[in-house]
Amino acid sequence: MSQITAAITAVGSYLPEHVLTNAMLEEMVDTNDEWITSRTGIKERRILKDPNLGTSYLAIKAAESLLQKKKLDPKEIDAVIVATATPDMMVASTAAYVASAIGATEAFSFDLQAACSGFLYGMSTAAAYIASGMYRKVLLIGADKMSSIIDYQDRATCIIFGDGAGAVLFEPNQDGVGYQDAYLRSDGVGRDFLRIEAGGSLLPTSQKTLDNKQHYVYQDGKTVFKFAVSNMADAAARIMERNALTNDTVHWLVPHQANNRIIEATAQRMGVPENKVMRNIERCGNTTSATLPLLLADYEDQLHTGDRLVFAAFGGGFTWGAIYLTWAYDTKNELK
Ligand code: UT7
Repeated sequence: MSQITAAITAVGSYLPEHVLTNAMLEEMVDTNDEWITSRTGIKERRILKDPNLGTSYLAIKAAESLLQKKKLDPKEIDAVIVATATPDMMVASTAAYVASAIGATEAFSFDLQAACSGFLYGMSTAAAYIASGMYRKVLLIGADKMSSIIDYQDRATCIIFGDGAGAVLFEPNQDGVGYQDAYLRSDGVGRDFLRIEAGGSLLPTSQKTLDNKQHYVYQDGKTVFKFAVSNMADAAARIMERNALTNDTVHWLVPHQANNRIIEATAQRMGVPENKVMRNIERCGNTTSATLPLLLADYEDQLHTGDRLVFAAFGGGFTWGAIYLTWAYDTKNELK
């Protein structure tokens, strides 16, 4: 009997309409387009402006775009996983709300929080459910309304992040195509360097935490950068080595979009040329849990059955890792 692998069989995405450009940020904080572009590669990011809408709105939109493209009855979905660092609420699962809103009434659902590695960890979770034979359709969504936790007076963070969501469907495959291997790691040493200090059980919300702006993202950029460069590149190199992949046999690097320089360091370590590196950081900025599926949505038309993809991410915690997956379909054939 052939082994079951977990393949990605559909992709969906959503970006809110409002565009926040570097020129607009120049009006808000002491920064400039040249600094932002040369240090990060970001030109603009999307922002969900409506204060009455949370991350669930982005997630629902991305899921709906997938359902429409795939012509999938949401009742067939067994599980909905929402990777997010910005849930609608501290308590009450965002995924449960999303699943109900899209009509996935036969599914169970939960949120997964691993900061910028959330989608990567979610891929391994979804794939394990499928490969075990336990479930046949797992919808994984990466969604973040980063603008809800950013201080737009802090130039060290407000230039980096954007809002967005992407979704993928995992299904069983009998031809060996799909999820192949993962190298995932975490190190709690990182929580001092990238965090939201207040609002959790360690430091509940109080007037003092509000006055101290402890509900916004704080990042020691330099330290995070150092860890990100070495760990993301290392994870990608390890996954290549473990699977006897070479720079010739890898078709695509799918890297977390935090900083162009981190992406370049990872590609360099893998020996992968620029034309094999997926990128949309210039348009989207860092959308945390959404970067990887947004890339898949942007590059879907260029992907072919059997293409070898290496995903790599690094985020708060610290959390990081790499995943090797082979692509399971040709978009052009699917649409015929
Ligand atoms: O996705 C989750 C993981 N996160 C990451 O991977 C992010 C990792 N870190 C980074 O991407 C980079 O560290 C940043 C883009 C956040 C910052 O770039 P950097 O090259 O590390 O700059 P820096 O923080 O060392 O700051 C250099 C200088 C400082 O001025 P002085 O002290 O040299 O006078 C900053 O105050 O640039 C200044 N600066 C800015 N200047 C203009 C910091 N932010 C800005 C800004 N505009 N927005």
